Amino acid sequence: MHPSSATGQAGTGEPVLELRDIRKAFGRVEALRGVSLTLRAGEVHAVMGDNGAGKSTLLKVAAGVVKPDGGEVRAQGAAVEFASPLDARRIGIETVYQDLALADHRSCVANVYIGREVRRSGLLGHLGVLDRAAMTDRTSQAFGQLAVPVSDVERPVRMLSGGQRQGVAIARAAIWAKTIVLLDEPTAALGVRQRAAVDELIKNLRSRHYGVLLISHDVPQVLEISDRVTVLRLGRNAGTRDTSDVDATWVVTAMVGGHS
Ligand SMILES: Nc1ncnc2c1ncn2[C@@H]1O[C@H](COP(=O)(O)OP(=O)(O)O)[C@@H](O)[C@H]1O
Ligand SMILES: [Mg+2]
Repeated sequence: MHPSSATGQAGTGEPVLELRDIRKAFGRVEALRGVSLTLRAGEVHAVMGDNGAGKSTLLKVAAGVVKPDGGEVRAQGAAVEFASPLDARRIGIETVYQDLALADHRSCVANVYIGREVRRSGLLGHLGVLDRAAMTDRTSQAFGQLAVPVSDVERPVRMLSGGQRQGVAIARAAIWAKTIVLLDEPTAALGVRQRAAVDELIKNLRSRHYGVLLISHDVPQVLEISDRVTVLRLGRNAGTRDTSDVDATWVVTAMVGGHS
């Protein structure tokens, strides 16, 4: 039970993203063999599964990086086709990939605004002057609201710890996302304390009513912070449950194929 979720009940917010019978093959490898999953507003929906189960491919379909061979993606109730990640971003879907894709030598603010710098309106805007003060303020404010553990947003990202870098990447996604944040193994490379900070950040996204799709290998993490869990096995959905209804044994058994 998560008191911070919008309704107080897992998975009862409105659907913000529906993946229906998604299929994707890479040559002879059938990465996804008809996977369906619904992501709701105000839920953390964990996707678990062994290496090669299709988790990252499913996330990339939702992010517009991989075009499915079959099936349907629906966002806010309408079918959508993403020609590129830009199309997914335009409707409010932001993604944090495993490699984070941060520019190490640039500041947190610069990383948040890469490719979307705010320009002043009016004459100065016309001349293309970046409004640095506005970008810095907005970044500080967002980091504060989300409890990103970075005090100085002007610091270059390369000076930050792994947990802080993950925080910057997640905050960047949250700042630009309208409805949906997709996270691929956000805590896999982190130590215990850093992981706890990122878990808090993920819970903050939920309380701010985002739908969060969380790919994770970490069974205790998933049991602690997710509202629902979907297990993928060999490119198929091996079960979706309210997290409060399952335990580690159920998850692991579903991953290795023990349930019918
Ligand atoms: N771009 C690609 N080209 C070829 N095979 C791929 C590609 N992406 C994923 N695969 C294959 O698809 C399967 C599912 O991969 P992936 O979605 O990355 O699984 P997971 O994230 O669950 O470990 C694996 O067999 C993987 O090798
Ligand atoms: Mg993966």
